[in-house]
Amino acid sequence: MAANSRALDHALLRTLLQTGAALTSTLDLDTLLDLIMDSACRILNAGAASLLLIDQETKTLYFKTATGEKREELKHIRLKLGEGIAGWVAKTGRPLIVGDVWNEPKFKREISQKMNYSTQSIVCVPLVVRGRTIGVMEALNKLGGVSFGDEDLEVTSLLAGQVASALDNARQFAVAATASQRLGELLEERYTPVGTSPLFREILTTVAKVAGTRSTVLIRGESGTGKEVVARAIHRQSKRASRPLVAVNCAALSESLLESELFGHEKGAFTGADRLKKGKFELADSGTIFLDEIGCMSPQLQTKLLRVLQEREVDRLGSDRPIPVDVRVIAATNTDLEAAIRLGRFREDLFYRLNVISITLPPLRARPEDIPTLAAHFVERYNRETSRSIRGLAPAALDALMRYDFPGNVRELENLIERAVVLEDDDWIQPERFPIGPRPTPAGSASDAGPEPSPMIALAEMERRHILAVLERCGWKKTKACSVLEISRPTLDRKLAGYGVDSSQ
Ligand SMILES: Nc1ncnc2c1ncn2[C@@H]1O[C@H](COP(=O)(O)OP(=O)(O)OP(=O)(O)O)[C@@H](O)[C@H]1O
Ligand SMILES: [Mg+2]
Repeated sequence: MAANSRALDHALLRTLLQTGAALTSTLDLDTLLDLIMDSACRILNAGAASLLLIDQETKTLYFKTATGEKREELKHIRLKLGEGIAGWVAKTGRPLIVGDVWNEPKFKREISQKMNYSTQSIVCVPLVVRGRTIGVMEALNKLGGVSFGDEDLEVTSLLAGQVASALDNARQFAVAATASQRLGELLEERYTPVGTSPLFREILTTVAKVAGTRSTVLIRGESGTGKEVVARAIHRQSKRASRPLVAVNCAALSESLLESELFGHEKGAFTGADRLKKGKFELADSGTIFLDEIGCMSPQLQTKLLRVLQEREVDRLGSDRPIPVDVRVIAATNTDLEAAIRLGRFREDLFYRLNVISITLPPLRARPEDIPTLAAHFVERYNRETSRSIRGLAPAALDALMRYDFPGNVRELENLIERAVVLEDDDWIQPERFPIGPRPTPAGSASDAGPEPSPMIALAEMERRHILAVLERCGWKKTKACSVLEISRPTLDRKLAGYGVDSSQ
């Protein structure tokens, strides 16, 4: 007897282990659920097993799956919540064993007839995900003329737990997949270049031409002119489009962090390197790497980057085994690299390696024809993002934009439109929504006092002069100055107080 029960346990264990293995190796949910149903029949020695889920909208139960040939037919049957044994378990969240359904008032013979299955005994348990009953799992007709017992209930509950976590994982996976697809679409849309001016069309022609090559590209231009937009357009139009575009901002990280970010490190390469880390070059393999703010890279990293460009291989920190990489490099900067070379801050040989193809984005004030197109594009985007339905710009508002010189370029235009879409009460954006003035008078006049190009002053002093110059040019309208400087009003007030400037001015 004992030997027999051990043999049974062994078979049970094997089935359970197989189910467990299937759970971790099968990604396809339907296959997995079918597998669990089949296992349930074998473990419980039951004639059939099925899984019913609650449709919250109609408050009905439907068959997600079941064993046997009737599987597909059953999927068309709907049971009311609370009705029949499965309905009762789904409604109350309590498990139930019924030895003889014909003596059980909860049993609805119509359901059995509908299913075209002659039911005798049932064990039915709720499926609970994050504290909520989402359906039931049931096994029907214990074979061998006996009824289901407490052990069967326990096993069914264990299996139901597995089903519940499989369903929960699948749901989360689906949510994550949808979110990541939406994120991809948003990113795609955000980085689609818009512009019809001759200058911008020329840029687009170059983008199309260089996309077909693997040449290194250096994109230059003032802040906010669309360097990242162009870098992403090149990648998207290239043969590498289905491979990753990995963007790294060289100004955002300290030298040592940037080094391990770009080149990766072996486990134990330095204190704190507790596991191997692949660098961005490796992650971008057969894709594109976008090195933003390349002008901020330290001389030591410039040397390492030069080696990658020359040898097409990277050395992880702590390794002497170079790893070959096939990466297209696109770099961007808004700093004057020629001046940096003269000052010994940027390697000339690296500059020539990067500058194989150079694209210089003109500032927005040099291509005012793009303003109406871009403005309309941003109105549409922010209408969508904020669920508003602004129809466009009033002629006077467009006029104000056309007369403005946009020191912050397209980004500033985008910010102005975003704010206007949110704040406008009218159907059309009115000029008052834009905290901007007309184009400043030509250079040399008092109001055009830009920061002095003197490299021999402290950064803080440079910042002070710049802030005051911008305020001056904005006629001391602080909201407008904040928009140009891309800082908050409290930050501006704090800085002014620090400079001893009367903040109420
Ligand atoms: N031609 C364009 N079409 C559509 N949107 C654009 C265009 N140019 C710029 N933008 C938008 O303006 C903003 C700034 O663009 P981007 O980040 O590419 O500029 P950048 O030159 O990289 O600026 P920075 O030097 O400050 O990093 C982004 O939100 C971008 O979507
Ligand atoms: Mg950028």
